[in-house]
Amino acid sequence: MINYPEALKNAAKSMVRFKNPDNLLRMIVRFIAKEIGLTHASILVFDTVRQRYTFIDSRGESKLPVHLIRIDSDHPLILSFMGKGKKPHLYKDALLLSHLEKFVESKESSRGIKIKKVFDSMKSIKASVCVPSFYQGELLGVLILGEKKDRDDFTHEELSFFHTLASDAAMTIKNTEFQSQLIDRNRQLEEKLAEIKRLRKKEQETYFQIMLSLAREVREKDDSTFGHLEAVEKLGLMTAEELGIDLSGKKRDILIAGLRLHDVGKIGIPDSILKKEDKLTPEEWLIMKQHVDKGVKILEPLTDFKDVVEIVRCHHEFYNGKGYPRGLKGSEIPIESSIVSVVDAFHAMISTRCYKKGFSLEYALGELNANSGEQFHPKVVEAFISALKKNMYGYYKSRISEERQIQHEEKPNTI
Ligand SMILES: [Fe+2]
Repeated sequence: MINYPEALKNAAKSMVRFKNPDNLLRMIVRFIAKEIGLTHASILVFDTVRQRYTFIDSRGESKLPVHLIRIDSDHPLILSFMGKGKKPHLYKDALLLSHLEKFVESKESSRGIKIKKVFDSMKSIKASVCVPSFYQGELLGVLILGEKKDRDDFTHEELSFFHTLASDAAMTIKNTEFQSQLIDRNRQLEEKLAEIKRLRKKEQETYFQIMLSLAREVREKDDSTFGHLEAVEKLGLMTAEELGIDLSGKKRDILIAGLRLHDVGKIGIPDSILKKEDKLTPEEWLIMKQHVDKGVKILEPLTDFKDVVEIVRCHHEFYNGKGYPRGLKGSEIPIESSIVSVVDAFHAMISTRCYKKGFSLEYALGELNANSGEQFHPKVVEAFISALKKNMYGYYKSRISEERQIQHEEKPNTI
């Protein structure tokens, strides 16, 4: 004799365990067929993809050929559970073959004909009881049970047990469905976020490339110095390495971007000032100084390169606090900005422009030393000269010697 309340409690516990509702339903069918002693126990479940009911499993000596039976949504068996109002053909909300027999006799009426079809369907699948599995008015499945092996009628307790089991199973199916929908939605959301991230990164890279081209154009327009940006990059990296600055990960790219993009704001300075060969007037100097803020504004959309913006913002700050735009001093200035400041000034001094010949190497280094601790960070000047002597002194010495050098008495404008 089965202890039904205990069996239900155990079944409820098992339901929590099953992640795949099909496995849960198979467990129910197995349990009913074996423990209650039925000729077969089968379960029909609504297939949301095919929009029809299919058998998940059938157990027992008279088990059904589950793959061969198809039950459409408008099948009389399914429709017999649907609709509002009283359904006298149901017995305790289930289809009971013995109960249906009473209605089959009056088959002349349209209801009688429908019930006869249900009756015949039940016979064809050797069903004595069909218990619906509802969730919020939605018929998710039907528990189809054969005869008891001892040919006894089903008791009220057994019918009520099947009913509770079917309802609990429906709820579990739905919960699992909700969970998998939730997992699906989360996955879709994650995919979308990854796509947005990828697009944003691509956008940033594209913007960065545009900025590099722009910086090159500005520089060429400014002084026609071939290879200035490449040289500044090389000298800057060399100095950073000499200083022992950590260039791992993105830090190297950030320094390179700062070295290349520091004067990009000059795109907003009129040619009449930018290309002026004579000394700038105080008013023109004020306009020229605006290239820092203009550069910051241009680069601000590069949110992946916030540190680059900061390097650009500070590349005209002086170590002694007399630079612009904010008058920062000493350690308030990012070391990368101090590097930009030294190597850009050095390369500008030794370069021949359309309106002046380049200064000698000794003169340029002398200027850096003379301004060390004033305009330039002393440690950066020291590291730069040391690295230059180790790596590139010979190169610059011979390159400059090839050009006709003239010693300018006048101190150059380092912008
Ligand atoms: Fe500048």
